[in-house]
Amino acid sequence: MATGFGFTLKATDGAARTGVIATPRGEIRTPAFMPVGTAGTVKAMMPDSVRATGADILLGNTYHLMLRPTAERIAHLGGLHRFMNWHRPILTDSGGFQVMSLASLRKLTEEGVRFSSHVDGSKHMLSPERSMEIQKLLGSDIVMCFDECPALPATDEVVAKSMRLSMRWAQRSRDAFGDRPGHALFGIMQGGVNRDLREESARALTGIGFDGYAVGGLAVGEGQEAMFSVLDYAPGFLPEGKPRYLMGVGKPDDIVGAVERGIDMMDCVLPSRSGRTGQAWTRMGAVNLKNARHKDDPRPLDADCTCPACRNYSRAYLHHVVKADEIIASMLLTWHNLHYFQELMQGLRDAIGEGRLAGFVAGFHAQRAAGDI
Ligand code: GUN
Ligand code: ZN
Repeated sequence: MATGFGFTLKATDGAARTGVIATPRGEIRTPAFMPVGTAGTVKAMMPDSVRATGADILLGNTYHLMLRPTAERIAHLGGLHRFMNWHRPILTDSGGFQVMSLASLRKLTEEGVRFSSHVDGSKHMLSPERSMEIQKLLGSDIVMCFDECPALPATDEVVAKSMRLSMRWAQRSRDAFGDRPGHALFGIMQGGVNRDLREESARALTGIGFDGYAVGGLAVGEGQEAMFSVLDYAPGFLPEGKPRYLMGVGKPDDIVGAVERGIDMMDCVLPSRSGRTGQAWTRMGAVNLKNARHKDDPRPLDADCTCPACRNYSRAYLHHVVKADEIIASMLLTWHNLHYFQELMQGLRDAIGEGRLAGFVAGFHAQRAAGDI
């Protein structure tokens, strides 16, 4: 691994693993959930509050930050950690995935992607070299290779062509990144739901050599069953001694299934984004606080949850502030959701460490099936 980085596996239970990624900015306990701080903020949360939910690391986005306020401006102001007042590790995604979902007038070539900004229509270019430069200007601790992720369903031919382009870009990312002590570079496996293409991609990446490996190209419309069937073999193609990161996943049951299959890191906008639409995630399942049945309910959202939303407020109050579009509704529900996701990760880490993951997972599903909320 890069100087200053280390991954220590502490225990395994079946395919599942628990350990610690050491970085110069602090430890990341795995399996880890990374809250998404796309534009230099986890929306509706102060950094200390994000930390209080149990997060060890945040995700930031090359695409959004290069457009506004620009990577050069952030670099002049001392880097992303100082800019957003989060001094623990930050992983940045490389931009290609966001260009494909957010930008317009995209033109993809061997060189990279030209596109128009979704903010002001201005023209930009992202390539492996430019993405590495931007992530360096941001001061990202874990830098992601520049890749392309095709939407599924797609033919094997389309997926193979795209994966091979991503592998050439992975080599260019590695070359452009160079040797940066204290900063890690992760490769991204592609190949859709095709086992041979996944294996080819893993071989290409491990041949280049990275500090960690992501499984990309999932949770893009294939469904949970297809995603799990890829995760039944894909982590096994990657080196045991390096962290494995499943990008853009997911719902609590996706997270549990991915961890059971050997994933160490994940990120998703779900807890923060759905908190801003009145949706809460709990041990008993999802709860929509817009529902009129909460109107007169004096009980907390979850009596066993120690987050500020559950300790200090009733479901009736949460319903009221959601309906009235009050800012505190986003604050409280985002806090609760991030707290729930981090508590789930702690539960998974403890269960793997004590060799009782199967029982923990059975309890997780049983509680949701009972669904007494
Ligand atoms: N986020 C979710 N999936 C992906 C992916 O395949 N590649 C990148 N770069 N980011 C992602
Ligand atoms: Zn709570």
